[in-house]
Amino acid sequence: MKLKICVGSSCHLHGSYAVIEELNKVLEKYGVQELVEMQASFCMGQCQHSVNISADEIFLHKLNKENIERVFLEEVYPKIR
Ligand code: FES
Repeated sequence: MKLKICVGSSCHLHGSYAVIEELNKVLEKYGVQELVEMQASFCMGQCQHSVNISADEIFLHKLNKENIERVFLEEVYPKIR
């Protein structure tokens, strides 16, 4: 699965780099680094929901380093296993 993490101005200000860092830890924790391709992205036009990630066809909104593991487990993990 391809995860595009927005690093546009709004998402950057809301902590997209902290989300990337935490997401890397989560991928490692669940041993799924090989199943997920992470990519930085410019603004996705969803700034009101920063931080945003697009996971294939869906958007994951309002991400932060506290909720990224839960959102990953609910929205991404079941689709890549
Ligand atoms: S800056 Fe991330 S959606 Fe606009």
